[in-house]
Amino acid sequence: MKVFIGYVSLSGNTEKMAINIKNRMMAVGCEVYMERLDTVEVDTLKDFDLAFIGLYTWNQDDLPYEAHEFYEELDQADFPGGKVAFFGAGDAIHILSAKMKICGFTVYDRVLKMEQETTAHDQCEHFADQALSWGSKRMKWRFILTDLMQNNPKYQRPPIC
Ligand SMILES: Cc1cc2nc3c(=O)[nH]c(=O)nc-3n(C[C@H](O)[C@H](O)[C@H](O)COP(=O)(O)O)c2cc1C
Repeated sequence: MKVFIGYVSLSGNTEKMAINIKNRMMAVGCEVYMERLDTVEVDTLKDFDLAFIGLYTWNQDDLPYEAHEFYEELDQADFPGGKVAFFGAGDAIHILSAKMKICGFTVYDRVLKMEQETTAHDQCEHFADQALSWGSKRMKWRFILTDLMQNNPKYQRPPIC
């Protein structure tokens, strides 16, 4: 499973969460690519089965400035169903999450919210596991269906003469 982790962090708290999630995903065998959100394009997400996005909130619950370009680019995004899970601090998470839903992404309904500037390592791991299990569900069904169709003569292509 290919996992993307994009985050923005000023004082390092969101970054710590991102690193914990990354370590967990690697430990369970995922291929992980982690990048700051201000250096990636929305299209990058196309290459991944699941994306984690982490944001801090400063300035009266506004979206962090490093996430503005990503937010604007979402209007051009054209890959419905891309799966995203959010973590971090404050209301910025909900601003970006709402926008991604409008733009056709499937957003995990649980959020890993930082409490008092910190989030325990095992909380991050637990959240990462839950999101991964959520993100894998439809994939699992796709594999089962593909397998069933490949083994059912009804769905086999006739031989080319
Ligand atoms: C100057 C300042 C302003 C903040 N403004 C908000 C805010 O408007 N809403 C909020 O939920 N948290 C606010 N916070 C809390 C931060 O989101 C929190 O400190 C978070 O851990 C920062 O994440 P980072 O370490 O990844 O940058 C503020 C913190 C600071 C220092």
